[in-house]
Amino acid sequence: MRLYLVRHGIAEDFADSDFARQLTARGRRRVKTAAAVMKRLNLRPARVYSSPRARARQTAEIIADALDLPVIIAEQVNFGFELSDINRLTRDLRVDDEVMFVGHNPDMSLLTHQLTGVDVSMKKGGLARIDVPGKQARDGELVWLIAPRVFDALGKSRMPSPVRSVSLSTPPQKLPQSQHALHRLIRHRWSPVGFDRERNIKRATLLSILEAARWAPSSSNIQPWRFIVGPRDNQAEFQKILSVLAEGNQAWARHAALLMIAVTHVEPKPGRTYRHAGHDLGQAIAQMALQALDYGIYTHQMAGFSPEKARELYQVPDDFEPFTAIALGYRTSDLRHLGDRQRARESSQRERRPLSEMIFSAAWGETADFTE
Ligand SMILES: Cc1cc2nc3c(=O)[nH]c(=O)nc-3n(C[C@H](O)[C@H](O)[C@H](O)COP(=O)(O)O)c2cc1C
Repeated sequence: MRLYLVRHGIAEDFADSDFARQLTARGRRRVKTAAAVMKRLNLRPARVYSSPRARARQTAEIIADALDLPVIIAEQVNFGFELSDINRLTRDLRVDDEVMFVGHNPDMSLLTHQLTGVDVSMKKGGLARIDVPGKQARDGELVWLIAPRVFDALGKSRMPSPVRSVSLSTPPQKLPQSQHALHRLIRHRWSPVGFDRERNIKRATLLSILEAARWAPSSSNIQPWRFIVGPRDNQAEFQKILSVLAEGNQAWARHAALLMIAVTHVEPKPGRTYRHAGHDLGQAIAQMALQALDYGIYTHQMAGFSPEKARELYQVPDDFEPFTAIALGYRTSDLRHLGDRQRARESSQRERRPLSEMIFSAAWGETADFTE
């Protein structure tokens, strides 16, 4: 579900009661500008809920008017608005619905923090878009936060009307429907095909990502991993790696910022196969993927490449094995350079078998009872 949290616009300091405080002329003007931008951004809340206080109600009315929707006054959105109120008010909405709440601080800033873990100070007339993976208001993603000054600037800019809502947003996420709590980076990692064709990875960032792989654990500290790296700004090396990928992978990986071939030492001691060579390499890549994601860089690993061709091109010795290829890059919401199948893949549901099918106890195949 997509939640829009709006803090009411600038209001008069005093009135007969706090309840009656109205928007000032400037407050109205600014909210009108914000509402026009929201319309151009194609915001489509199924409902607009407002606190009953005059300043929130007036803010909600201006926005709802621009979006051609009614306002629903809800006592829950008054002071003390909390997560359980959101869940109660959205219980009958669908998972892909959008819903807007117009209320007060500190509730709006606190809710954004509780939902996303991000500390924000919501300004008067500001708007946060928070995507939550299911129907429950939890584990949200702060997709964007628009301050009133940004609305003012956007209101003056010549945006084509209406623009697609993605134009100001980060690319959509594919957050998992996890059964249990997850670290932010694990929750956000997935394997995209929609890479940004312009943004390269800076040297210091790349070194940090590689350093993460370096510090992975390995049996007897053998560190069997090796990586052949081709950044896009070194086209000769980039094209060399691209040429060993399977055709289906080339179609999207050609837009990545960097390609790698991950190689592992399968025979570090002559005549003795190292059984955990693949295990250790995978672990190094997992660390690399999370470190990269901390910079907003996504990884997509590939078995679809030719190890023989890689061996030949780079003269990889026999005691090493080219194991996987990896594409890294920033993501983009502009997927026009991809084919239909790849575009569909970018928004497909992510599936996993449940814990009960993979955690055993007592005997093989017997689900450990704590997972149920
Ligand atoms: C070792 C390995 C090989 C993979 N090979 C390919 C591949 O050749 N092409 C591809 O598009 N995705 C490939 N993937 C990506 C998987 O399809 C993807 O990780 C899986 O579907 C789970 O999706 P998620 O990473 O988005 O959670 C590979 C992943 C791994 C770990």
